[in-house]
Amino acid sequence: MSKALEGVKILDFTHVQSGPTCTQLLAWFGADVIKVERPGAGDITRGQLRDVPDADSLYFTMLNHNKRSITLDTKNPKGMEVLWEMVKICDVLVENFAPGVLDRMGLTWKKLHEVNPRLIVASVKGFGPGPYEDCKVYENVAQCAGGSASTTGFREGPPLVTGAQIGDSGTGLHLALGIVTALYHRTHSGLGQKVDCAMQDGVLNLCRVKLRDQQRLAHGPLSEFSQFGEGVPFGEAVPRAGNDSGGGQPGRILKCKGWETDPNAYIYFITQAPVWEAICDVIGEQGWKTDPGYATPPARLPRLNEIFGRIEQWTMTMTKFEAMDLLNQYDIPCGPILSMKEIAEEKSLRETGTVVEVDHPKRGKYLSVGNPIKLSNSPTDVKRSPLLGEHTEEVLRDVLKFDENRIAAITESGATGARPRVAAE
Ligand code: COA
Repeated sequence: MSKALEGVKILDFTHVQSGPTCTQLLAWFGADVIKVERPGAGDITRGQLRDVPDADSLYFTMLNHNKRSITLDTKNPKGMEVLWEMVKICDVLVENFAPGVLDRMGLTWKKLHEVNPRLIVASVKGFGPGPYEDCKVYENVAQCAGGSASTTGFREGPPLVTGAQIGDSGTGLHLALGIVTALYHRTHSGLGQKVDCAMQDGVLNLCRVKLRDQQRLAHGPLSEFSQFGEGVPFGEAVPRAGNDSGGGQPGRILKCKGWETDPNAYIYFITQAPVWEAICDVIGEQGWKTDPGYATPPARLPRLNEIFGRIEQWTMTMTKFEAMDLLNQYDIPCGPILSMKEIAEEKSLRETGTVVEVDHPKRGKYLSVGNPIKLSNSPTDVKRSPLLGEHTEEVLRDVLKFDENRIAAITESGATGARPRVAAE
């Protein structure tokens, strides 16, 4: 079976999380992703949050599967010479340096396009054109600037960032879509183009419903928010909604048996309108089926606290898994709050390849998140991340087709750094 992106060569100039998320996906789909790293140091995440001495961190390994690594000092003329050769033969250059870095390297869009008109140049930056375009940005800055933090958390508390890496990994996903779209366009136009994703834009795209609510506010209170039923007036901007569900089907996180000691003994419960009668039967409030104060969705909105309080009395009588089993018999939408430990141990996620065990020569076995996008004719085979510069020689010889003399001159110049020691696998 061939891989969907087989034959596509990526000059992967990414680091940290946003760019590597994108190129890892492309690698999983079969692209040949050649990661260019600074000799001796590499992607800074190799050494960040290290848990095993001298081994690449999980931060790095979990974002750089299925790639090759070549070390090149782009501040060395020979290093730049090699880079330009890579530009000539690659389909896509992906980067997420700070604004201006690529231009300082001499890799302007104009010059890149001249040298290889088919090259797609894909970039992540913190902000698009505007007052903040020159700023360096990390995950949480993007969450704050993209509307996520102001709408996450409880009304009475401060803005909150979320554990999901919507700024970094979210933007990497957006970029990957931009790249495959540009690759498709190139099949008609024959030309590459620039693909730009700003992290602020990516987060805002994921917060689309909150911009929706901002405009609804002009026409009255947001009746699905708990604060509506509590009689708390709305201000000028969309407030934080706690665990209220944003859509038309009110939901809430409710305690289950064991919540006093287990921080994750909770279930998300949705009072979906079509199954309201089943909910009444399950919790033993048959009267709510016909009582005009409870029977219709609009009637229920002002009393969500009371209704969820009653449902919680019921959920607290069983574990989140028992509640899940029972509620699913009635098609009542709900979901247990799963801890990372529970997710790591979940059999079905292992079976689908969403959670995979990978072996690494320096750290041994570790768990990773596999490809969440499943293609029926292009299955993903997750391979360990490369050691720093592990494929330098291989790429110079087999990909760039340099002869021994040229490779020797490059090595001699120090452009590739010292040859890495590869542990026996
Ligand atoms: N050889 C030699 N030098 C190299 C190199 C190589 N192979 N690769 C990179 N460099 C140099 C660059 O030329 C640059 O030097 P310069 O400033 O002298 O031109 C330098 O490394 C630093 O790059 P920079 O991107 O500024 O790194 P940083 O660690 O200071 O900033 C970020 C990190 C993430 C804040 C920044 O890259 C950024 O804002 N990126 C865009 C947004 C983004 O993706 N953020 C999320 C990250 S998960």
